[in-house]
Amino acid sequence: MAIDSKPPVPQAVLPAGFIHGFATASYQIEGGHDADGRKPSVWDDLCRIPGSIRDGTSGDDAIDSYHLYEQDIDLLAEYGATHYRFSISWSRVIPLGGRNDWVNEKGIDYYNRVIDGLLARGIQPCVTIFHWDLPSELERRYGGWSCQDEVTRDFERYSRLLFERFGDRVKLWITLNEPYCVGMFSSLGLKPNFSFEKDLYQISHSLILSHAMAVDLYRREFQAEQGGKIGVTLNSDWCEPIDDSEQAKWCAQRRLDQALGWYADPIYLGRYPETIVKEAGSRLPEFTDAQWKLIKGSSDFFGLNSYTTTVATGKRNDLDLDGGVETVQHDKNGKLIGNAAECGWLKDVPWGFRKLLRYIDERYLKQYPGMELIVTEQGFCVKGENNMSIEEACNDEQRETYYRGYLNEVVGAVQDDGIPVMGYFAWSLADNMEWLEGYIPRFGVTAVDRDNGYKRYPKNSSAFIKR
Ligand code: NOJ
Repeated sequence: MAIDSKPPVPQAVLPAGFIHGFATASYQIEGGHDADGRKPSVWDDLCRIPGSIRDGTSGDDAIDSYHLYEQDIDLLAEYGATHYRFSISWSRVIPLGGRNDWVNEKGIDYYNRVIDGLLARGIQPCVTIFHWDLPSELERRYGGWSCQDEVTRDFERYSRLLFERFGDRVKLWITLNEPYCVGMFSSLGLKPNFSFEKDLYQISHSLILSHAMAVDLYRREFQAEQGGKIGVTLNSDWCEPIDDSEQAKWCAQRRLDQALGWYADPIYLGRYPETIVKEAGSRLPEFTDAQWKLIKGSSDFFGLNSYTTTVATGKRNDLDLDGGVETVQHDKNGKLIGNAAECGWLKDVPWGFRKLLRYIDERYLKQYPGMELIVTEQGFCVKGENNMSIEEACNDEQRETYYRGYLNEVVGAVQDDGIPVMGYFAWSLADNMEWLEGYIPRFGVTAVDRDNGYKRYPKNSSAFIKR
């Protein structure tokens, strides 16, 4: 591996016990889509519809971690990871998903092998309970996340199963990954006959409640004995107003509230953000007082996925999903705010991440003395990497530059701003199935040769992060 002449991030300033990890998700890496009793999830279904996925692929084989998980664990050890964040495929452990449906012991065994393998190498598992792959049967039976009464109870039972079977060894739980994106992907084809009016608001509502019920269950029945922590992972990119106008500032706030505040305000502050209440009007379902009680304070830490920064122009548009505000990624002179990536939405903008950390600290963390923030995902896909040879792909200087910039902001946030960031998971351990984009964008710090036995090749960025 090339020796990097530029100085690494000064680690000495990070607090003792700082989590250094890598993240993945079941559908994106496992493959084995019908192995040992697994049934489809809504993502398996979507991939079957021609034209849905940019390169026409699916997660059927992904990077075959279902069979090659030991190699993944070896990589984690090589990269000096203290933690590994991965998700459980709901339909692998309860193939039909529902609270009265059968449990697939072979699926449970798989995750036992992963967890035990990690612990044997001194790596702590961090388990995401739901990373978007809802069992298809639940969508078919009652419309999945749109049916609050059913889905919250099924999610509770699913969570209980995981706490019972894995909680003796898993000490870090994440209920949901990026609830905002569940609505977003639902609108982009994941949910058949999606309606903005009906589904978007109901999906968010069910997700918030499911999260809170699972946390309540864990705290009541498992936490004292098992001694783990549980929380949620929300996603947001910083949104910068293009100028000082009130209109641009309002739009930037509106955009932040759409992905982050819609979930973070209920969970950490016990109410909805003003912009959401104002614009959603009667479309926003109400929680009962008892539900609000469960929701407020239902996270032991602040899990954050953040990749980039956008700029609010101050103009409105009619895209409900983006909060109806126009965002761009250039300044008022038309200059790009950071290096472009393979994904059009991603630019390398470290200063925006620092602003986001400060914003979260002020608005949420300060309400809970002692609460810590964990960066549960951050990463970069180099433009055109899918057309490079393995050797070229492993020489990933742009990804290294991205991590250098962002990690330095983490260090600054801890050292200069006193923000309690306690961990950092890079996305991702290895190149994998990037949802609607298939295998075109490459986010891994490991390249995977999908044509030759899914062989893994460490990229230079893995060594950089380790240092
Ligand atoms: C966030 C998601 O959690 C993950 O699944 C995805 O691959 C990355 N962002 C990159 O887009």
